[in-house]
Amino acid sequence: MLEEKTIEWVKEGEFGYCLTVDQTLIPFEYKKIKINSVEDMYSAIKTMIVRGAPAIGIAGAHGCSLAAMELKDDDNFIEKLFKKFDYINSSRPTAVNLSWAIKSQSDIVEKNKDKSPREIIDKLIENAIRLENEDIKINKKIGEFGASLVPKGAGILTHCNAGALATVGYGTALGVIRSAFKNDDTIKVFADETRPRGQGAKITTYELLRDNIPVTLITDGMCSYFMKKGMINFVVTGADRIASNGDSANKIGTSTIAIAANYYNIPFYIAAPKSTIDMSINSGDDIVIELRDENEVKIVNGKPICPDGVNIINPSFDVTDNRLIKGIITEYGVFKPDELKKIFS
Ligand code: MRU
Repeated sequence: MLEEKTIEWVKEGEFGYCLTVDQTLIPFEYKKIKINSVEDMYSAIKTMIVRGAPAIGIAGAHGCSLAAMELKDDDNFIEKLFKKFDYINSSRPTAVNLSWAIKSQSDIVEKNKDKSPREIIDKLIENAIRLENEDIKINKKIGEFGASLVPKGAGILTHCNAGALATVGYGTALGVIRSAFKNDDTIKVFADETRPRGQGAKITTYELLRDNIPVTLITDGMCSYFMKKGMINFVVTGADRIASNGDSANKIGTSTIAIAANYYNIPFYIAAPKSTIDMSINSGDDIVIELRDENEVKIVNGKPICPDGVNIINPSFDVTDNRLIKGIITEYGVFKPDELKKIFS
């Protein structure tokens, strides 16, 4: 298993830097890169060197520390700091974990406004490391709660990558699978490709193979085939933002799987920390869906796969209707979508 943190703050010199796995290189290379400027953090999130809602949140928190370090000698420290926080927050719109982590850092600044920039930097680093450490503990709890739902010998489908690499460690949906496998090594996992970026093919299969958990790669369109055959009888995915009514945004294609799962009466679960639940919005209609570059759809292995001039549209996420979700697995337990308001308000 990826026992080490996939993203972390390294203390060195006066303050330190952020060290993260470059996820764009997986599965062919496992390499960590240093991020020591706001600009590099913005671009790492945007280009998906760091990806996955919880990992993006931690990256944002470390980005805030870097912002304060860049401004430490500036006369307008606080004002300019909040501008940099907004800039980091604009790197990707859908995963609420980013604005959640930046809000946590903004609260630290507000509380310590009267202190010197250097003291504020120390507080920001301390808070970001706290969030980093909590993430792994949260994921292990999600894993335990989720594992109790998995039938013996299940065929589990997961979509995209909600694993150690999408978090600081262990993963959310893959945390459930990891914990389930500890109890029952007869479970089998299906990972779908997750076009256009291929997180399922590249990252989920990589993580599971490293853990010796049996995984079969299928294409995105195959889920109904395997559900009908009875080979998939449990689905768990992560989420990027869950509205207060339980509607859940996750990687494009998730809602198609949920619709198929419901048709075949297969339980469909979302595994996500409380920080992914956005109680400020009523439904999935309020979730901003990121539109990404058309070349992600058009170009495969450096070559176009379609004629020039064809229209392409590339929404990166979709929203799964709360009625299709059997339960949301959090670090506080498993809740039905309509229970979120009661539990988390
Ligand atoms: O575009 P990505 O790769 O950042 O999208 C990731 C997902 O959709 C994940 O399922 C989600 O962030 C949960 S990660 C624990």
